[in-house]
Amino acid sequence: MSATRLALFLDDQPGLLPESGGIVFMGAVSGIDLSGLPRDRLYVVARMKPDFEAFEAHEIAVALDPPEQAALAIVIVPRAKPEARALVAAAMACADAVIVDGQKTDGIDSLLREMRQRCACGAAFSKAHGKTFLARGQSEDFADWAQAGGPRVIEGGFRTRAGVFSADGIDPASRLLPEALPEKPGAHVVDAGGGWGYLSAAILGRKGVERVDLVEADRVALECARENLPDGRVQFHWADATRWMPETKADAVVMNPPFHAGRKGEPELGARFIAQGARMLAAGGRLWMVANRHLPYEKVLRTHFREVEEIGGDTRFKIFRASGPSRARG
Ligand SMILES: C[S@@+](CC[C@H](N)C(=O)[O-])C[C@H]1O[C@@H](n2cnc3c(N)ncnc32)[C@H](O)[C@@H]1O
Repeated sequence: MSATRLALFLDDQPGLLPESGGIVFMGAVSGIDLSGLPRDRLYVVARMKPDFEAFEAHEIAVALDPPEQAALAIVIVPRAKPEARALVAAAMACADAVIVDGQKTDGIDSLLREMRQRCACGAAFSKAHGKTFLARGQSEDFADWAQAGGPRVIEGGFRTRAGVFSADGIDPASRLLPEALPEKPGAHVVDAGGGWGYLSAAILGRKGVERVDLVEADRVALECARENLPDGRVQFHWADATRWMPETKADAVVMNPPFHAGRKGEPELGARFIAQGARMLAAGGRLWMVANRHLPYEKVLRTHFREVEEIGGDTRFKIFRASGPSRARG
C-alpha cells in the first residue's frame, strides 16, 4: 500500500515535513491513509468526483488544480506515464521539494531513473513493491513533462489528455457499440461514464436525438468531451453516474461501464452503473452496453430489466440491449 509506505518514509525522515506552509497532495484517491500529515495545512488535488466528494466529506481541502505555491508537494504516481510525468511537473511548479511515491507495477523505477537525469533525488525508500523518494528541482527542469500532459488529437480528430480513459485511441469495446445502436435511439439519451465523448458523438449522429446527458466522474475527461462535442444538445455533468439522475426520465442509456476505481479492480462498479441506468430510464426506455466478455453482467442486467438480449460483439466483447427497467427491485 503506497500510503503506508509514505507514512513509514515520513517516520524514517523526521524533519522532512515543513513546519509551516501548505502541503499539496496530488494523485491521492479517497480512502488513502493521510495519517502523519497536518490536516490543517493539507490540500488535496483530485479529479474524480467520488474522490473529490469523499475528501470534502472528511473536511479535507480539495481542489481540481494545485495552488501556485506550497512548501511541499506529494505525488502518488499513476500508471499512465504521461499523466505521472505531468503530475510531477505540476508538483515541481508549485513546490521545490516533492515526495514521489509509487508502485513498481506503475513504473516508479523508470520514473526515478528519468527524474535523476533532471534534478536531485534522495535515496529511495523501498517497501511493499514500491518506492518513495524526495526530489528537489525547478519547474524549468520539467517543462517538457508539463507539455506532455496537454491535449493530444487522436483518430477522428478527438481531443484527449493524459490519464483519461483511452487517451491514445478509441477503445476497441466502445468502437463496437455504435454499430448496435438503432437509427432512432430516442429523443433523450444518457451516456453514463461518457469519457471524452466517443459514444455521445455517435449518438448525436442518430435521428431524433434532442438531448444527450454526458455523465462523467473524471473532470479532465469531461473537459475533453466539452471540446469534442460542440453541440447544444449535449449537457455535461461532472457527477458519479452510480448516483446521478436526470430531471426527466430518459429514453435510452448507453454505457461501456468502468470496472476499475483508480488502480483497484472493482467489478461491482459496473453493476452499480447498470442499476442506476435502469433508474434513469422511462418505462419504455432501453439500455445499450458493451463489456468485456469475461465480466458477468447478465445477472445484474436481469435483476434490473425485464428483457435482456445479447445483440452483438466479438470474441473479446459482448453487447447487450436491456428493456423494461424494473422499478421495484431498485
Ligand atoms: C470504460 S470507460 C468508457 C468511456 C467512454 N464512454 C468511451 O466509450 O470511451 C468508463 C468511464 O467511466 C468513468 N467513470 C468511472 N467511475 C465513474 C463514476 N462513478 N461515475 C461516472 N463516470 C465514471 C471513467 O472515468 C471512464 O471515462
